[in-house]
Amino acid sequence: MPNKQDTPNNARSATKAETAAVAPPCAMVIFGAGGDLTKRLVTPALYNLVTAKRLPDGFRLVGVDRGLSSVEDWRASLTDMMNEFVATRDGEFHADRIDPTAWKWLCDRMTYLQGDFTEPQIYNRLREHLAGLDKTAGTGGNHLFYLAVADRFFDVVVAALGTADMVTEKDGQWRRVVIEKPFGHDLASAKALNASILKTLQEHQIYRMDHFLGKETVQNIMALRFANGLFEPLWNRQHIDHVQITAGETVGVERRGKFYEATGALRDMVPNHVFQLLSLTAMEPPISFDADAVRDKKAEVIQAIRPVTPRRAMKDAVRGQYAAGTILGKQVQAYRNEPDVAAESTTETFIAWKLQIDNWRWAGVPFYLRTGKYMKRRWTEIAIRFHQAPYTLFRGTHVERMNPNWMILRLQPDEGIALEFAAKRPGPTVTLGNVSMDFAYKSYFNMAPNTGYETLLYDCMIGDATLFQRADNIEAGWRAVQPIVDAWASDPAKDFPNYAAGSDGPAAADELLARDGRAWRPLE
Ligand code: BG6
Repeated sequence: MPNKQDTPNNARSATKAETAAVAPPCAMVIFGAGGDLTKRLVTPALYNLVTAKRLPDGFRLVGVDRGLSSVEDWRASLTDMMNEFVATRDGEFHADRIDPTAWKWLCDRMTYLQGDFTEPQIYNRLREHLAGLDKTAGTGGNHLFYLAVADRFFDVVVAALGTADMVTEKDGQWRRVVIEKPFGHDLASAKALNASILKTLQEHQIYRMDHFLGKETVQNIMALRFANGLFEPLWNRQHIDHVQITAGETVGVERRGKFYEATGALRDMVPNHVFQLLSLTAMEPPISFDADAVRDKKAEVIQAIRPVTPRRAMKDAVRGQYAAGTILGKQVQAYRNEPDVAAESTTETFIAWKLQIDNWRWAGVPFYLRTGKYMKRRWTEIAIRFHQAPYTLFRGTHVERMNPNWMILRLQPDEGIALEFAAKRPGPTVTLGNVSMDFAYKSYFNMAPNTGYETLLYDCMIGDATLFQRADNIEAGWRAVQPIVDAWASDPAKDFPNYAAGSDGPAAADELLARDGRAWRPLE
């Protein structure tokens, strides 16, 4: 296990509160510069950082890829993509127009090296190139390496950077590496990847990305819990009956059949994204906003998930795969008919799981998680269900039954927080109605255009790793889901497909809660 405290002596991490609005100068190198991720998310996020005046004059963007031959080609392909986003309004980047001054600012700072990142030569060329930029462009000698490459190359690129002596920090100049998802495919491969990259890098240099942590509303879970005196005293087994976490998607697997066949909904979403929501909801208060203080508490809560036995895995976890159906008025085909998917595929596109957190705060409070492709609505929420008030007082009135209080943290699409409670209906008799106090983000705050990557990239530049996964966080996530992965692998599903695209998921997911006398909140 890496030393969590190994803060670099020459590049102390700063917290956001301590840093100025403008990031320190650096050269950011993107491996996989011609790829989808660079185009769809990284470049638009950098552009948004430029318009928000967060990038310094000494910022430089270096693309590395095999495909394109020159910086002019790279710029042109990125410009086309940005214009296409504006024209089609499709994708994570939303803008009415591209500000030509801001875009030029970024384009003027781009350089490009054509080469294969599996071959050593490119690293020698890149080292020379960066040394040149450090001398002439005011990068401060700081280098951020962004691995927008297929996951099988993560350790290859890191090892090559080490061999080329490109990641040693000295004279106050930092070297950081951003690693995308998926970080491993199971516990063994995640551990192996951690072990491999930690041969070259120190933990503080590694920024393991989980883009859910870039979402404002996900970060807001901590603010809600710890910046308000009202909620935290209720946030425990004494007051909470159970918690439901839903991440419903209206997309199918689209062109990702090959990846998805080997991955499935459990691995794709749960140990990473859904566990981020779970750990922020259930963690103990950290002693500060220091990256390690927060990540310690997040790791603890995931480590406290009750280990699942093979028998419980089959009972408490439900898998589903979509059949043909209708999504948002459009007819879609079954998962098994998608490109690159086996005709008899047993890969799940939906998972629901009832888990227990074995600690003082949560003992006996079930957490129900569900996520799936092609569900009725794109809907991510955390729903906290409080204990029912005693009925005694209402005996003998027209009130036949009382509804419990819910607190709903809506993460997407209509970000906000709602508190549901009972109120007396006006009139001479005592009857109750359910009402909701609803806070919508957009009615209070001006939300700047955001792909979710802006904060994350900015944080890498300022050296704040709070929103990134540490090795132990990643491994704890995989450790918790591994028994389900294993149980499902040894007993492939026989009832697939078992939910229609455009529905709430399989009937077995409803039964999972019905067994406990509960029901999922509808995907309205
Ligand atoms: C990705 C998964 O990590 O997250 C996708 O690989 C999933 O399958 C996506 O669709 C969900 O993210 P978002 O931001 O669209 O909710």
